[in-house]
Amino acid sequence: MNIIKGSKAVREAARDYERYSSNLQGDQDVRDYKQLPLEVDPPDHTEMRALLAPWFSKENVAKLEPEFRKIAKHLIGSFNNEVEITHELALQMIVQCLGVVFGRPQDVSEWFSWGPDTWITDEAGIRHGDHLDRYLKATFDELDENPTEDLFGVLNRAEFSGRALTRKEKYGMANLVLAGGRDTVVKLISGSLWHLANTKEHLQTLKNQPERIPEFINEMVRFLSPLPMMHRVDTEQTTNPDEPIYTWLSFVSANQDKEVIKDPEQIKLDRGANPHLGFGYGRHSCIGMHLAQLEAKVVLEEWFLKFTDWDILPTSEIFFDLEDYVYIPSRFHRLDLALTS
Ligand code: HEM
Repeated sequence: MNIIKGSKAVREAARDYERYSSNLQGDQDVRDYKQLPLEVDPPDHTEMRALLAPWFSKENVAKLEPEFRKIAKHLIGSFNNEVEITHELALQMIVQCLGVVFGRPQDVSEWFSWGPDTWITDEAGIRHGDHLDRYLKATFDELDENPTEDLFGVLNRAEFSGRALTRKEKYGMANLVLAGGRDTVVKLISGSLWHLANTKEHLQTLKNQPERIPEFINEMVRFLSPLPMMHRVDTEQTTNPDEPIYTWLSFVSANQDKEVIKDPEQIKLDRGANPHLGFGYGRHSCIGMHLAQLEAKVVLEEWFLKFTDWDILPTSEIFFDLEDYVYIPSRFHRLDLALTS
């Protein structure tokens, strides 16, 4: 596996889309269309990203904070002595906030039922995507009959290069905005509470100075690197387009690069400048970063209002299998906490 590592090299590769192209289709076991605009290069990328960008802008997302707070307050208000965080707090918060951002609260319980990964993995380890295919088909069929002003309704009528988007392009955009902010934000919220359970002096500092929560979240995005690597087609190495040679951009290695981050294995509340690539870099950088940061901020603020302390229960299932970085949790399958109000 070719992996580009380190902050400088990853930035350079992310900029050079002619050499390292995003023109590919991942997850071929579970989908037969591209996630858009992630899996195209300019000029298509530029035009497709512009269709989604207004929904995720900092200003637009900031306006939704009161609604996000209501969701967090309601969820956290229902917890008492113990709670499983990944599903009951993080995933619930994420899907309910997406319901607000997309203007589709009627779909929230279906999105929740898919779990943190969008794809459903069976006991034999095989991933399935048919539930998502069914959902996307039914949703866009319905929108053809009854046009709406929500995100998918607007996408259904959007123009691209002077024509309507194809069905598969619509599926690819809807799929990406449903998938991109699930396991990543689950990891961010769970990882933040995991760290504060392990490091009580940070818990006390943030409880006394909640205005420092956004900087803490930024540091947790760096440390956790919830999307550790993404692939590109190496156009110089590829001779047969049917057999692309892939290269991986390692965002986690950039975020652990001692040349740019002092003591990168430590989580610091006072890091100051934090030039991490947790949200990627360049034209494909994360469109949902303001949404992710706001979801995590509101959750932590509301959490601190209710709980003074919490501890990790042994029933938790946390994985540490990131090659070279085994001190970083790679996945929170479940995070069970004992709570003190
Ligand atoms: C902590 C949470 C998140 C992390 C760490 C994260 C990370 C990333 C990274 C590293 C990329 C760049 C991929 C590449 O260069 O190939 C990316 C792209 C993207 N993310 Fe996120 N993401 C997060 C949350 C979200 C959310 C909440 C959404 C939306 C609901 C979202 C939607 C997207 C989309 C649509 C792209 C593709 C952008 C493009 O190709 O122009 N992400 N994300």
